[in-house]
Amino acid sequence: MEQKICLIGKGNVGTSLLQLLNEKKEEIMQKFHVDYKVIAIFEHDGGLINKTGINLQEVLNKGKDFRELSYWNPGIKALKELGNLDANICIETTPTNPDNAEPALSHIIEALNNKINVVASNKGPFYLHYEKIKKLAQENKCSIRYEATVASCVPALSVKEGLIGNTITSINAILNGTTNYILSRMTSEGIEFSIALKEAQELGYAEADPTLDIEGYDAAGKLVILANELLGWSRTIKDVKIKGISHINAQTIELASVDELVIKHLAIAENGKLVVEPRLIEKDSPLNISGTLNVIELQTKYAGPIILIGRGAGGFEAASAILNDMINITIKQK
Ligand SMILES: NC(=O)c1ccc[n+]([C@@H]2O[C@H](COP(=O)([O-])OP(=O)(O)OC[C@H]3O[C@@H](n4cnc5c(N)ncnc54)[C@H](OP(=O)(O)O)[C@@H]3O)[C@@H](O)[C@H]2O)c1
Repeated sequence: MEQKICLIGKGNVGTSLLQLLNEKKEEIMQKFHVDYKVIAIFEHDGGLINKTGINLQEVLNKGKDFRELSYWNPGIKALKELGNLDANICIETTPTNPDNAEPALSHIIEALNNKINVVASNKGPFYLHYEKIKKLAQENKCSIRYEATVASCVPALSVKEGLIGNTITSINAILNGTTNYILSRMTSEGIEFSIALKEAQELGYAEADPTLDIEGYDAAGKLVILANELLGWSRTIKDVKIKGISHINAQTIELASVDELVIKHLAIAENGKLVVEPRLIEKDSPLNISGTLNVIELQTKYAGPIILIGRGAGGFEAASAILNDMINITIKQK
């Protein structure tokens, strides 16, 4: 079975996906009898189109200089070309825009209107316009999956399929690696927030402008996606009560430690409410994870807590989640 793929956004995640598809081509063919043929790769300033299949090795060999390829078409836009491509799956990996979810939102809408299935790593559209996107996918009989948007490769959304006979009642999670790194370092080293943040920036764990992470907006977006998907809610980021971690100091952390407690930046969905804020938890709580890890604790009605822990970021981590989604969509079509 052949599946034609269109990739929008050839950055860290997009390029990692191309590498995965190239490396795993034979394995995917053997295991799933699917040939994923990438027919278009779009960037903000142009694209590569080859309807018989792009040579991925050639693109990867070029690295950042892929625009030097003879068939690079400057100026073409994914939004204009999507309808002419006859693609089966559109992969959306452009940067997240927390204000209006663009350009990803328009890409997703255009793909669905052209009856193209969608896999996205960009969370903006889902925490701002979840209902609209789901409805459009349904109307066009398309699949839309976005596992990479929450905790990257951790199967935070597809766990729902494994718990189909159970009922998830609440979520307690740590969904932002940057804030968890900062709080972990403040706890283990007794250092102040500003020093831990600088360290995180030097190690590449925090952006030059870390506001979205440290003020809780990134975690809040992921929490909305989790709650909508796993609890069946229908919320947007405006429904989340959000408090960041920049006001926490070394003294507060030390005081908590005297009582065998630690401060963690928790994302909580329970009793109809969504909250992201620093909370005191027991030192031996399963939520007390260190470094840049993510953790998701699901309370279930018939089996108590279920806990997922793993790396919440990274190009290949996200790409592997995208490939999961692609395979899931394809298998269900068969
Ligand atoms: N990196 C991770 O660990 C991770 C994990 C999970 C989810 N995500 C999400 O996945 C998405 C991609 O992340 P990333 O780390 O790969 O970001 P990135 O490295 O910045 O890649 C995004 C790419 O999209 C391109 N782009 C921008 N506007 C575009 C447009 N209108 N049309 C086509 N391409 C466009 C960018 O080009 P220019 O740079 O030239 O503008 C860039 O090459 C983000 O939404 C992110 O939040 C990332």
